[in-house]
This record gives sequence, structure tokens and C-alpha cells, in this order.
Amino acid sequence: MTARPIRSLRPPRGTIPTLLLLALAACQPPAQPGGAGDAPSAFTEAGGAFPVPWPFAADTDPVTATEGMVATTDAYASQVGVDILAAGGNAVDAAVATGLALAVVNPEAGNLGGGGFMMVRLADGTVHAQDHREKAPIAATADMYLDGDGNVTDRSTVGHLAVGVPGSVAGMWDAHARFGVLPWADVVQPAIDLANGFEVNVRLVSTLDAAQNGIRAFPASARVFLPGDAVPAIGDTFSQPDLAAVLTRLRDQGPDDFYRGETAALIAAEMERGGGIMTLEDLDRYTTVWRDPATFDYRGYTIHSMPPPSSGGLTMAAIANIVERWDVADLGWNTPETIHLMAESFRRAYADRNEYLADPDFVELPTDEFLSETYADARAATISLDRATPSSDVNPGIEAFLDESHTTHYSVVDGAGNAVAVTTSVNSWYGGKVVVDGAGFFLNNTMDDFTAKPGTPNQFGLVQGARNAVGPEKRMLSAMSPTIVEDPDGNLFLLTGTPGGSTIITTVLQSIMNVVDHGMNVVQAVHAPRVHHQHLPDLVFYEHGGLPTATVDALEALGHTVLERDPGPPDAYFTGGMSGDVQMIMVMPDGSFTGWSDPRRGGKTVGR
Ligand code: DON
Repeated sequence: MTARPIRSLRPPRGTIPTLLLLALAACQPPAQPGGAGDAPSAFTEAGGAFPVPWPFAADTDPVTATEGMVATTDAYASQVGVDILAAGGNAVDAAVATGLALAVVNPEAGNLGGGGFMMVRLADGTVHAQDHREKAPIAATADMYLDGDGNVTDRSTVGHLAVGVPGSVAGMWDAHARFGVLPWADVVQPAIDLANGFEVNVRLVSTLDAAQNGIRAFPASARVFLPGDAVPAIGDTFSQPDLAAVLTRLRDQGPDDFYRGETAALIAAEMERGGGIMTLEDLDRYTTVWRDPATFDYRGYTIHSMPPPSSGGLTMAAIANIVERWDVADLGWNTPETIHLMAESFRRAYADRNEYLADPDFVELPTDEFLSETYADARAATISLDRATPSSDVNPGIEAFLDESHTTHYSVVDGAGNAVAVTTSVNSWYGGKVVVDGAGFFLNNTMDDFTAKPGTPNQFGLVQGARNAVGPEKRMLSAMSPTIVEDPDGNLFLLTGTPGGSTIITTVLQSIMNVVDHGMNVVQAVHAPRVHHQHLPDLVFYEHGGLPTATVDALEALGHTVLERDPGPPDAYFTGGMSGDVQMIMVMPDGSFTGWSDPRRGGKTVGR
């Protein structure tokens, strides 16, 4: 394999040859029985065909629109956003309305009781990064998740101690106050309407089914989400009167109710009942922060993503700066050579991420190194093209839990060219499974994103350092990476983001590389199988059926340990062994939009 220490020059947006895209689509071999490993993969100049069989096609037409577009994991929520655009709202109004709708129809991830990050790029080209991440309560301590013997307990993932001070409500309010044009009441109302009843879909049933034992442990949670002690059936009307009342107060009183009023009192009472440490003072002191975006160049495209306390933007920058030293377009999409280079770059960037990154308000960060070409040169120089570098300090006993806990991403554009990308989370499915009694929403378990004990993996298998230890009012390190990309001329080009815990960063970057390096369209970029490496455990993960046997063999010959993700039970709703739920919008050369929601979780993109 030949290294090409050059900048690959892909044709700028708009000149990606349509013929190549058609070739890629045509190259997709017909589905065949048997595992993907049974069939060789035919790689082409266009970047290669998806393996055989692979459930997602390369030739599906994207959703197209000219006036605006909303891509989310849920059809109701996407429709709410498009309705707000049609009513004269801008992308921020639509994003806020969509986020609140997701808190109702997607309670496993959309939330009032969690937090997240919002990237906004206005039509005037200014870019804004809003941090509405949860914070540790004032009474939190570095060793609060250790037992008497110093071992990590499950208290960071389940129950009342797992809860960080929620930021979503403040985030939605601040974003609307700063950039919205419609009255606040108008953007909250659709969520109230949905809380008064919506038709249960397969995703809600499936996730409740999977989480029901955890939910049942908390009577207030079971009362709302397992009515009659059962998971609601598909087609049932699911009403959430307590949540509707919270949203009505939010509509009428703004965030004061949530942070200082009746809802705050309900949250504090829930904390006291369950032995939590979050207080009225914690809620009262919560504020969002507007931060400088993490901005970097990738082959002439400008990528804007979240800075710390999300690790997403800086880690993507570090990976991109290393990968950029090779012409991966020429090496081919998902060839062993390209995956090797990606895995080696992921490994190095995650090693730094896991050690150095944390809340910038508490810890000094080596931000410049993450963005530095010189540092990337030094890191790239340690990559052998013929051999995987073992991750230092490999612990083969570390188990990786990369499966689908819950976060959700949504992308919104309006006809004027304003763009919003939001990733939000309660961390695990339905957070720590605690519903605030009388308020009807789940609280997060995002405290698990802190380092409970240096060197011990969290629920995503991330082995993180002491800088990310729990501390009063500190924000826990995140991987959430809502991202907006400009083309080489500085025009809005892509919005992308995904859930997936530690895999978020590599998934988002692959969605961009699929377009920039491999010339894929928006559907192909979302459908393409993905790989992942996070330094520890020292494994290249790939999606179930995502790599042909020959590619796996070639990677193993280079010294990688390669692991196919577990497909899970055959009747699982989510396509088994998959990672992520990308919601992507691309601006076309004529200014129109193409968009696609990841079929891995069955979302929907709606345009107008
Ligand atoms: O902030 C983070 O990195 C995690 N709390 C995200 C969790 C997540 O993506 C779970 N969803 N699949």
C-alpha cells in the first residue's frame, strides 16, 4: 500500500460526477442469501459497492425539497418542524418545536429531562454553538459512584443519583429567544397537542418492551409508560396528561416553571423520594452556554461542530487532520487500506480524547493540539501502513457496550438557508428509568459520562481519564457531535449528526467522508455500513454484515482485531448490530435540499 502524503483534491460540490453516483448505485450487487462474508465486494473508482447482503440500498431516491426540510427519528416530530416552517417560522423555531415534540413522541431519547448541543448556522454565514449539556449537582463528588471497596457501582446509570441537572428546556428557550421569529407559544403548542394523545408506533413499543424491567422498578415511571402494567400496543392512543401540563406551563411561563416553579418542585420532590442529590438550588442555577464552535478544514470543506464539553468537534478534527494525509478517495471506500488508516486515526484521536478532554470551564484543555496540523503530522508519522499499532495498555478483559442506548439527532433547514443541527440525550434508553412523579418525563442518567473511576470503562466501553472526574456543577464529557459543513466556497452544504454513545464521532465523520471523499449522495452516505475504533478496547468494530470476509481477513492480516457487532434477537425492531441513526441534509448546487433519515431506526425526513 502506498502512502500519499498529499491533500486529496476532490471535485468541489456540484461537480461530483453524477455518472459516478449512478455507477455506485448500479454496482450494488443484488441481495443474496447468506452472510455478507459469503460474497466478495466489488470495489470501483466510485468508492465501492455495499457488501452483499446489506439491508440498505444505494439507489433509493432521497427526500427533496426547496423551502425547507426536517430530518428526525420520528415522523410526527419531522412533521411538526415542517408545519412550523410553513407557518412562517425559521429553522430555529422549527428545531425548537421539533425538539419539544421529540420529548413527547420519542421519550426514550427526546427529552425535557436531559441535555444536548445545538449548532446553528444562520443564512448570513455566522455559526453558533449552544451547550445545554447537563451539569453535576452541587453535592456531587468524585467518588460518588464507588462502593466502600473502591469499585464502580451501577448508581451512575440507574436511579436518582445518575441524574445530571437537565439543560434541554433552558436550551430550547435560549435558542428561541436569540434566533426565533414566531411567538414562543406557537412553537410549544404542537408538543402539547401530541402529549394529549398520539398513535403509538413500532419504535416506542419496541424500546419500551426492551426497557420495561428497568422502568417497572420505579412506580411513577411504570404508571405513565406501562399503563395497566403493560407496554402499549401499536396503534393505541398514548396520552401523557402530566407531561401536557408541564408543557402548558412551559408555554405560558417559559422556563421559570421548570427551573424555579411547580415543575422544579416536582423534580426536587422526586429527588428526595429516591435519594437523589439534585436540589431546587441546582435547578435554579442552571444556565446554557454559547461557545466558540470547533471549526476545522477537511479537504477544502469547513466543518463546524461542538467544542467541549462535547469531545465531538475536536476529536473529529484530530481524526480528519490525520486521515487527510492520505488520498482515501483513491484507496477506495471501505477497502482494507482505507479502514486501516481510519482505525489508526480513530485510535490515536480517541486516546487523546479519553485522556485530555473534559469540561473546559473546569479543566485546561489542549485544544490547539487537537486542531493542529503539526500535531496531526506527528501523529500520522507513527502510523505504519503495513501493521496495526496496538493500543497501549490494552485490556482484553474490557467489555465494550456499544449498543443502542439513547440519544437522538435532528437536522433542520429553512428556505432562507438557516440551518440547525441538534443532538440531545437522556443517555441510556429512558435515562436512569426515573420519571418525575406528577410531571411525566424521564430524567437522564448522563452522570455516567463522567469518569466514575479512571481506567474503568463506562457503559460505552470508554476508558476515560481523571480530568473528566465528577465535580460540583461540572459538565460531563460528551461525544455528541451536531455538525454543519460548508463547501469550499463557504456555502452551506451538509447537516449531519447521530446518536450512538462513543461511536457518534466516527459515525458523523464517516457520513461526511462518504460525501467528500467517496462522492456518495445523501442516501448512500447514510446507508453505507460503518466501522469504529475508540482506542480501548483495541478492536475495529463493524456493523453486522457490513464488511466482506476478505476485508476482515485483510484487516486481521494487518494486525487488527476485528469484531462484528452482535445482531441481537431476530425479532428486534432496530436493525440488529447496527450503529447510529444519522439524520442528514445536503444542499444541492441549485440551492434545493436532499435529505435522508437513517433506516437503522426508521426515522423520517420531511420537506416542503
Ligand atoms: O453525551 C454522550 O456522549 C452520551 N451521553 C450519548 C449517549 C448516546 O448517544 C446514546 N445513544 N445511542
